[in-house]
Amino acid sequence: MLNQDLLVLRNCGVIDPGDLDSYVARGGFEAWRRVQSGMTPAQVIDEVKRSGLRGRGGGGFPAGLKWEQTAGGPGGTRYVIGNASEGEVGAFKDRYMLENDPWSFIEGLAIAAYAVGASTAFINLRGEYGHLASPLDSAVARVRDKGWLDLGGRAAERIDIVLRRGTGGYVCGEETAMMETLEGRRGEPRFRPPFPPERGLLGRPTLINNVETLMNIPWILSQGADRFRGMGTDRSPGTKVFSVSGDVARPGVYEVEMGRPLSDLVEMAGAAEVKMVQVGGASGRIVPAAGMDVPLSYETVLGAGPVMVFDRSRDVVDIMRKTMDFFVSESCGSCAPCREGTQAMAETLARIAAGAGLRKDLQLLEDVAGVMILTSACGLGQAAPFAVVDSLRHFRTEYEGHLL
Ligand SMILES: Cc1cc2nc3c(=O)[nH]c(=O)nc-3n(C[C@H](O)[C@H](O)[C@H](O)COP(=O)(O)O)c2cc1C
Ligand code: SF4
Repeated sequence: MLNQDLLVLRNCGVIDPGDLDSYVARGGFEAWRRVQSGMTPAQVIDEVKRSGLRGRGGGGFPAGLKWEQTAGGPGGTRYVIGNASEGEVGAFKDRYMLENDPWSFIEGLAIAAYAVGASTAFINLRGEYGHLASPLDSAVARVRDKGWLDLGGRAAERIDIVLRRGTGGYVCGEETAMMETLEGRRGEPRFRPPFPPERGLLGRPTLINNVETLMNIPWILSQGADRFRGMGTDRSPGTKVFSVSGDVARPGVYEVEMGRPLSDLVEMAGAAEVKMVQVGGASGRIVPAAGMDVPLSYETVLGAGPVMVFDRSRDVVDIMRKTMDFFVSESCGSCAPCREGTQAMAETLARIAAGAGLRKDLQLLEDVAGVMILTSACGLGQAAPFAVVDSLRHFRTEYEGHLL
């Protein structure tokens, strides 16, 4: 793992993740104290809005705007959920950060709860990250024992942080499916609107943010929105944390300023003879070797953080076949375009990979992909065909080489 020591990863590998004092010694909980000693919730939200921070869970929705919408939703009980589901293929940056610096996440979660007026914040932890449950629980207990979750020192007004283990598949990281599982039901996405800030967990206004989004918060509140805006691009301020894997000499977690070219990241990880890079996991985009100078930002190509490198020895059709098999097993099956579309695309790709495909199969893939992107009910089905569509554009001759 490589720590670029920029912003979000600044404590990883430096502090003792089990020792709150080592976090405090590096300025930890300064932002929380600053917030508590005189910032109103509206001022906190304003600072987050001014920073231009966008959600790091994949969608890039402006964080401050979501906080404002949640705070402004119907009165009464509100919730915050820290999304630590991390089910995307090739994603391991949230796990790394929670293993190495749970404190920034907890501090960010507490500030978010204060800002939107929530007295309960849930951590939805990926089921497979069971080894993190007990360290996270103890970290929360240590912060609580210090009295730092008491608002203004009044124990009656306390923020409860509650850990929940995720119950399963990839789609359970999608925010509405996640709330279904938290309420004890099967993980199937809800129809939207209403969106969670208006009507979320148990029908109450709910703020949902990714682990990395929340880990940016203490830095922004202590260093100021202007300094944050000074990094990255106009529309994508700050840094981004990536998990780089595949055909590289140094797989790991890297933090780079937004706007840096993809080639920088791939070089840092030690890639050679690159054929293509998949940015954003199975549901991400394919960038061919010739496009490595693309800047990493929401305006171009980004996703939630996985970056998978494939060298020239790799067979594109076979990679796409495996990618679509993943979506067949992860589709929740509740809407037809995704349920039937992933199946049809997987069967077609298997046929082409086996050397039994016809030219019309390439058209079939594009047609089914078009319907899925337009009509699937949630982001899983809408994004599942992206890699195939991109690879057909950039590597069509390779597909044609597999045809009968
Ligand atoms: C199929 C699917 C899976 C998702 N999985 C995750 C996940 O594991 N972690 C995450 O933070 N967001 C995930 N998301 C995005 C969430 O729905 C949501 O947009 C995000 O948690 C909001 O946080 P942010 O605004 O901080 O990015 C997923 C979305 C989809 C469509
Ligand atoms: S798009 Fe796929 S995962 Fe999403 S609701 Fe439809 S079937 Fe379920």
